[in-house]
Amino acid sequence: MIPPQIWRPLGILLAILLIYLGVRSFFVPATFYQYGHFRGNSLATIASRPVQYAGKKACMDCHDTIGEKPYHSKHKTVSCETCHGPSLGHVEDPSQLPSLKPTNKEWCARCHEANNARPKTFPQVVIARHYPDKDCMICHNSKKLEKKP
Ligand code: HEC
Ligand code: HEC
Ligand code: HEC
Ligand code: HEC
Repeated sequence: MIPPQIWRPLGILLAILLIYLGVRSFFVPATFYQYGHFRGNSLATIASRPVQYAGKKACMDCHDTIGEKPYHSKHKTVSCETCHGPSLGHVEDPSQLPSLKPTNKEWCARCHEANNARPKTFPQVVIARHYPDKDCMICHNSKKLEKKP
C-alpha cells in the first residue's frame, strides 16, 4: 500500500509530464528530427528559393582575361561575386550588369584594416595612416605598382 505522501507528488509529476508532452506535440513541427536537429521540410523550403549566385567558373566563360588586370590579379583568390554581388541574372542576360563595383575605403577596410585577429600573413594596413587623403584605387589599380617587387 503506497502512502499518500508518495503517490500525491508522483501524481503531480506525472501530470506535469503529460502537460509537457501535450504542449510539446502541439508546438514541435511534424518533420522535426526527420534528418537531425532541424525541421526536415525546411530543406524543401530552402531549395525552392531562386538561385542568385553563378559561381566563378561561369564568370570565367566570358571574362577569362580579367585576372590580368592589376587589381583583379591581386584578388584572384576571392570569388567574383564577393565583390560584384550575386550575378546569376547577369550570366543569363549579360546586358543586365552586376550592381556592385565597390572601390571606397570602407569596402577595402572590411578585409584589409589592420586587426590582430587576422592571420599575420594576410596583407593589412592601418587605413587611417596609409595615404589617408587618397583613393585606394589610384595606386592599387595601376600597373606601375604591380611591377614593384
Ligand atoms: C555570357 C557572357 C558573360 C558571363 C557568363 C558573365 N559576364 Fe560579366 N559581362 C559580360 C558583358 C558582355 C559585359 C559588358 C561588356 C563589358 O564591359 O565587358 C559584362 C560586364 C561585366 C561587368 C562590368 C559592369 C560595369 O558596370 O561595367 C562586371 C563587373 C561583370 N561583367 C561581372 C561578371 C561576373 C561577376 C560574372 C559571373 C557571375 C560575369 N560577369 C559573367 C558578359 C558576361
Ligand atoms: C576584391 C573585389 C573584386 C573581386 C574579387 C573581383 N572584382 Fe571585378 N571589379 C572590382 C572593382 C572594384 C572593379 C572596378 C574597378 C576596375 O575596373 O578595375 C571591377 C571591375 C570589373 C569589371 C569591369 C570591366 C573592367 O575591366 O574594368 C569586370 C568585367 C569584372 N570586374 C569582372 C570580375 C570577375 C569575372 C571576377 C572574378 C574572376 C571579379 N571581377 C572579381 C572588384 C572585384
Ligand atoms: C572580400 C575581401 C577583400 C576585399 C573587400 C578587398 N580585398 Fe584586397 N585582398 C583580399 C585577399 C584575399 C587578397 C590576397 C591575399 C593573399 O594573397 O594572401 C587581397 C590582396 C590585396 C592586395 C595585395 C597585397 C599584397 O601584399 O600582395 C592589395 C594591394 C589589396 N588587396 C587592396 C585592396 C583594395 C584597395 C581594396 C578595396 C578597393 C580591397 N583590396 C578589397 C581580400 C579583399
Ligand atoms: C599613394 C598610393 C597608395 C594609396 C592611395 C593606397 N596605397 Fe596601399 N600600398 C601602396 C604601396 C606603394 C604599397 C606597398 C608598400 C609596401 O609594401 O610597403 C601598398 C600596400 C598595401 C597593402 C599591402 C600591405 C602588405 O602588408 O602587403 C594593402 C592591403 C593596401 N596597400 C591597401 C590599401 C588600401 C585599402 C588603400 C585605401 C584605403 C590603399 N592601400 C591606398 C600605395 C598606396
